Amino acid sequence: MSDYKRILVTSALPYANGPVHIGHLAGVYVPADIYVRYQRMRGREVLFVCGSDEHGVPVTQRARKEGITPQQVVDRYHSLIKKSFEDFGIGFDIYSRTTSATHHEFASQFFRKLYDDGKLIERTSKQYYDEEVQEFLTDRDIVGECPHCGNPDAYGNQCEKCGRDLSPEELINPRSKRSKSTPVLRETKNWYLPLNEYEPWLREWILEQHKEWRPNVYGQCKSWLDSGLQPRAMTRDLDWGIPVPVEGAEGKVLYVWFDAPIGYISNTKELCEREPGKWGEWQKWWQDEETKLVHFIGKDNIVFHCIIFPSMMKAHGQYIMPDNVPANEFLNLENDKISTSKNWAVWLNEYLEDFPGMQDVLRYVLTANAPETKDNDFTWKDFQARNNSELVAIYGNFVNRAVVLTHKYFGGKVPADAKPEAIDAETLAQLPQIKAAIEDYIEHYKFREALKEAMNLARIGNKYISDTEPWKVAKTDLDRTASILYTSLQICANLAIAFSPFLPFSSAKLQQMLCLDTLSWDQLGNAGILPAGHQIAPAQLMFAKIEDAQIDAQIAKLQASKAAHEAAAKVSAPAPAKAECVFEDFEKMDIRTATVLEAEKVPNTDKLLHLKIDTGLDVRELVSGIAQYYTPEEMIGKQICILANLKPRKIKGIVSQGMILMAQQPDGKMRVVSPEERLDNGATIG
Ligand code: MF3
Ligand code: ZN
Repeated sequence: MSDYKRILVTSALPYANGPVHIGHLAGVYVPADIYVRYQRMRGREVLFVCGSDEHGVPVTQRARKEGITPQQVVDRYHSLIKKSFEDFGIGFDIYSRTTSATHHEFASQFFRKLYDDGKLIERTSKQYYDEEVQEFLTDRDIVGECPHCGNPDAYGNQCEKCGRDLSPEELINPRSKRSKSTPVLRETKNWYLPLNEYEPWLREWILEQHKEWRPNVYGQCKSWLDSGLQPRAMTRDLDWGIPVPVEGAEGKVLYVWFDAPIGYISNTKELCEREPGKWGEWQKWWQDEETKLVHFIGKDNIVFHCIIFPSMMKAHGQYIMPDNVPANEFLNLENDKISTSKNWAVWLNEYLEDFPGMQDVLRYVLTANAPETKDNDFTWKDFQARNNSELVAIYGNFVNRAVVLTHKYFGGKVPADAKPEAIDAETLAQLPQIKAAIEDYIEHYKFREALKEAMNLARIGNKYISDTEPWKVAKTDLDRTASILYTSLQICANLAIAFSPFLPFSSAKLQQMLCLDTLSWDQLGNAGILPAGHQIAPAQLMFAKIEDAQIDAQIAKLQASKAAHEAAAKVSAPAPAKAECVFEDFEKMDIRTATVLEAEKVPNTDKLLHLKIDTGLDVRELVSGIAQYYTPEEMIGKQICILANLKPRKIKGIVSQGMILMAQQPDGKMRVVSPEERLDNGATIG
């Protein structure tokens, strides 16, 4: 870790607008925790900071949805998140919150210093305002048509269909999500950080000095820098957040991405002030070049941690820069994007309830399958398979055999290495290499690979005991059995250490079984950790097999949640408004009444009816996809409306001349639109 004296690790502050899910864990908290546990074991001075991100629009949105105050939302989720992190074994030194007094004051002062030092630009701009609710609209409260791909429901900051970043003014026909009214542009004053001024420095710092950053991180930074940085507003017209500490800024708060990362600092300050003897002064962590600062984040946070927050710190002038920002890609769930709003997620608090005492299984699966270089998929089947065929069948099985046999043949005392053979030494010789590999991988933020090495050690142990068969040898040669178990127990002790950063609960269990006082990293690789005669404790189960029923229940739970969400979405949301058109567009359409004369199913199809209709102008045929909604008998004699001048199309060999007008119901079903009273066929509609 080169010349650094201490390591400061931050993990993204989760929004307190919902519980934490496996995507957060895999992307941020599990890798950060592994890194921190490892560094602590190496005896390094480490501080691990996190807390809830309690401002920001997601919180106010949730509050509105539930009819409670934003404070109530964050109180609820802050405690829930904090508790589930603790139960899951994420070892933060502090988990505070951005609504704390310390944070409000600190963030406020930070802003004020930039303001006083002339680092911010005051600018008046036009922002969308909803006259009905009398508030400025946030980017996410404005929807409209994407100018790039035509998605009618693009958000003011991003189009989720084509993935492009947008600004609200780019949307075609913007609508307010708050009131469904059309928002108007209104003047407002805000304070901007001129990111463009930091561009040369950022280019040098990142693109030249940090070529070792992960390709995804480096690449995103490069693309931001190459497309040119713009001043970015650090204040917002909102009422939930930290008031802007400047005169004339009533009704404005600090931009959540301004205040939240400062939360890393203010939380450090809170901890240092609480336990100064242990942690020293907060400045030592944030302002001393000998601190190595590492931000663990998900890929959607890259720009904030690599460009905006560093520019803020640079503008302030007294802060160090991150040494690395190991951002992960995303984890999907059963082949679908994890989504809080769609309730498509495995929530940590629910996992802890459904799988009590099985924290390490999830930690294992999320690390073994970590989205370090690309998006990855979590499936319950894979979760089960990794538990049953890796943790249970290899690691647990090996430890169990070594410990049980030691009790069986040697009264639970580590036997003497009475009759060594070459295979013992050859096996143990691999320990130092594994140690070196794990270290190298973790120092380079390659946690999947590091875990593979630890698991490889378990495989080596399991193979060793299977090959040497001490249970058979015991019948004829107890001395040899002693050596085999001696060797096996040394491997067990090494496993407890090697897995400790990854699977802390299991390592603690194994440590207990082996009656080891401490697990120290320096001991990893040592082939004589447990001296002959050392008493060990009875075997405990390290990992339990997961049955199909448990997995099926989880899959069913996900499906139920998806179905519930889809039903709710259908009932409540009529299709979005379409783009404006002119009367001439409408006039082109020849819409008329007609009557169905004959109807029959199109052979070999489920959905199509073949109709003969009287349009008043002529009798013609058309094919319509309504067989799921109407039988031929129901259609015969019905008066309908048709688009008569739609270009004829051949469908299943039939030339279809026109289209029936249908209305979609909330449940997705289609109904034909019929005139209320019988009209002449061929009456034009317009
Ligand atoms: N709450 C943000 C998110 O979940 C992360 C904030 S990280 C911080 O994406 F740096 F701003 F704190
Ligand atoms: Zn788009």
